[in-house]
Amino acid sequence: MVNKIVMPSNKIEGTLYPPADKSISHRAAILNSLAEGQAVITNFSAGADCIATIHCLESMGVIVESSSSKEETDQIKIISPGIKHFEEPSNVLNAENSGTTMRFLLGALSVTPFLSVITGDYSLRNRPMGRIVEPLTLMGSNIVGRINNTRAPLAIRGGSLVGIEYEMPIASAQLKSALMIASLFASEKTTIHQPAKSRDHTERMLSAMGGRLSETDNTIEVMPSPELVPININVPGDISSASFWIVAAVAHPNAKIRLNNVGINPSRSAIIDILKTMGGNISLENNRTEGGEPVADILVESSDLTATEVGGDLIPIIQDEVPILALAACMAKGTTTIKNAEDLRNKESDRLNTTALELSSLGAKVTENIDGLSIHGTGYIHGGSAKAHNDHRIAMTLGIAGLLSKNMVTVNGSEVVDISYPDFWRDLEFIAYQ
Ligand code: S3P
Repeated sequence: MVNKIVMPSNKIEGTLYPPADKSISHRAAILNSLAEGQAVITNFSAGADCIATIHCLESMGVIVESSSSKEETDQIKIISPGIKHFEEPSNVLNAENSGTTMRFLLGALSVTPFLSVITGDYSLRNRPMGRIVEPLTLMGSNIVGRINNTRAPLAIRGGSLVGIEYEMPIASAQLKSALMIASLFASEKTTIHQPAKSRDHTERMLSAMGGRLSETDNTIEVMPSPELVPININVPGDISSASFWIVAAVAHPNAKIRLNNVGINPSRSAIIDILKTMGGNISLENNRTEGGEPVADILVESSDLTATEVGGDLIPIIQDEVPILALAACMAKGTTTIKNAEDLRNKESDRLNTTALELSSLGAKVTENIDGLSIHGTGYIHGGSAKAHNDHRIAMTLGIAGLLSKNMVTVNGSEVVDISYPDFWRDLEFIAYQ
């Protein structure tokens, strides 16, 4: 385990290009592999989660070529026989730490008639999969696994699927995407009712690939669409990764930064709106649309933050940002409450617990509630030693806490940032100590 020492910073300044969006990279690789043909993906995420996706696809006969030229190391080409011609994997598929890989592939493997087994690391093997297994089984897939078919390793034998009408018990983009993938190859229409909206990258990309989908309020209808067409995709920067720098800048007394080429899809960018409500000095420039996704450059300066309340339908669209939002709330005046966020306990770590525990260990006043957090903003973090709990977003939150704190912060297990942001510590040095 690697320990990273982060010293308080006098000034946060500079321009960064946050890393490629993890959610869009997974989709670009998996959805293009469903179709027969070739697609070039530029700015593909170098994070370990997306590499796990690539390895699983390769095990089923998809060819993934990476560009060898120095300028284009992040460009890959997917050459796929199409899902109907996927090969039976000769070994267990390993999604490692990636929930998106496992859940999306459960959808795809429900379409293929061969036997496959998928597993992951300790964290992923303990995350709930019953929410995906149950509706896919209703569609006709055969999936068995540990603890009454709710935990990986899971064995899947797919085949002919029927369309269903399904009421999702929770708002989850991974669940809805797994169902949409299976529904494209079912014998009739599938109707998916969501309790609230979650990120919609799958809907956007599948529509661009010729998938027949329609959405009214929170209901998505998917018509059988087996003839998908591959599309080239240029992946924008990840708003979830950018949010670490956004909070570093709004919460620091001497900060001015620019984050270029960041995806600002409204189903992902609520963190910007919430921080603005708290008084965050954040503006967007060069708004544009690339590959069906809204993109902008984000300017952020030091701000006087006040507390806020977050809950309800906002939670599914800021869930990955809750740990860093909690840190912002530590630096704001007043008590911030985050409610209805119980599903955060099912992420790479139990994020309600790990956020409260580790920020408190640095001297912040954060209380864990059953479905959220109460954060008493003191404007002060003392510093000390804290654990990443094998969770990339907790490691990065603690790194930013180090920049804002009175004394240095040691982040135990700092290497886990590789999951989504391998250059995080290099970018931190650049923006905080130049
Ligand atoms: C993701 C969806 C989210 C999020 C995860 C990535 C995705 O989970 O937490 O990091 O790419 O679809 P949910 O399925 O709970 O929405």
